[in-house]
Amino acid sequence: MQNPYRPIPARIDRIVRVRRDVKTYTLSLLNAEDEAFQPVEPGQFIMISVPGLGEAAFSVSSWNSEGRVFDTTIRRVGRLTSYLDGLSEGDEVGVRGPYGRGWPLKESEGKDILLIAGGIGLAPLKPVISYIAHNRERYGLLEILYGARTPDELIFMDEYDAWRRIKDTILRLTVDMVPKGVIWDYNVGLVPILIEDVEVRPEGSEVMVCGPEVMMHFVVKALTSRGFSEDQIYLSLERRMKCGIGQCGHCQIGSKYVCRDGPVFSYAEIMGLPDVNI
Ligand SMILES: Cc1cc2nc3c(=O)[nH]c(=O)nc-3n(C[C@H](O)[C@H](O)[C@H](O)COP(=O)(O)OP(=O)(O)OC[C@H]3O[C@@H](n4cnc5c(N)ncnc54)[C@H](O)[C@@H]3O)c2cc1C
Ligand code: FES
Repeated sequence: MQNPYRPIPARIDRIVRVRRDVKTYTLSLLNAEDEAFQPVEPGQFIMISVPGLGEAAFSVSSWNSEGRVFDTTIRRVGRLTSYLDGLSEGDEVGVRGPYGRGWPLKESEGKDILLIAGGIGLAPLKPVISYIAHNRERYGLLEILYGARTPDELIFMDEYDAWRRIKDTILRLTVDMVPKGVIWDYNVGLVPILIEDVEVRPEGSEVMVCGPEVMMHFVVKALTSRGFSEDQIYLSLERRMKCGIGQCGHCQIGSKYVCRDGPVFSYAEIMGLPDVNI
């Protein structure tokens, strides 16, 4: 029987700096006999490990059709991510997954889609944008609201023009503050202010949100006060994962395991659960 905790060796084929503390890594599975990561659902995560340092969860932001090459965008925050930040193309890491339940893309067919992201939270939503772009006729209006602390902290800036060119797509940007001397032509203010001008209406739409929990709290408040219901708002939760497969209980909140039942949940599923501050 195969050990579910065994990391699969992967090589870092490419590293692209996204901003000061964020890089996108293109990883490829090294051994042809290792199972490919198929199918990867937008919103699912993988565990990346380094022997002696540990493992952490990261979203998959794109992948090739065989599931052997995929991208993940990682912010340097602590031990493991600082180590990854120091690696070079050609170095190896361990990966396992993909795990969890992603965004409700099948259920959302025929509907307008509102995506709301804060900071690095755009990473798990990027594959949703690609998926909708490739299956454009299956969805209505696509509206993307994205904010970061400063213009410097926005990620995937070189994709925005292409996203704006996707048929029936609106991209709205905001930052909390603009440092002196920086040119910024978009909104200034916290992400929920973008909801004031949103064109997607509650009827026949789904909302997908990812960002810090405090941001998601105010986003949910703004959405529900505009008439969006708890079961049409989906959120990706972040918890420290250990096993990633519903065995250890480390990511448990109330009756839910974030790794197995999420990380994407409808707000209706998680409202009122202990340790969820949304
Ligand atoms: C489902 C899922 C998907 C994820 N996807 C991504 C992704 O695509 N890209 C990505 O960069 N991260 C992602 N994360 C977060 C990532 O797993 C953590 O940031 C991880 O703990 C970093 O490991 P580390 O060893 O470097 O930091 P640690 O040593 O674990 O943490 C160091 C310090 O940073 C703080 N810290 C850790 N994580 C965060 C955080 N996210 N925000 C603020 N402070 C933090 C800790 O409290 C600690 O003080 C995801 C997490 C989950 C659960
Ligand atoms: S990480 Fe072990 S149960 Fe979720």
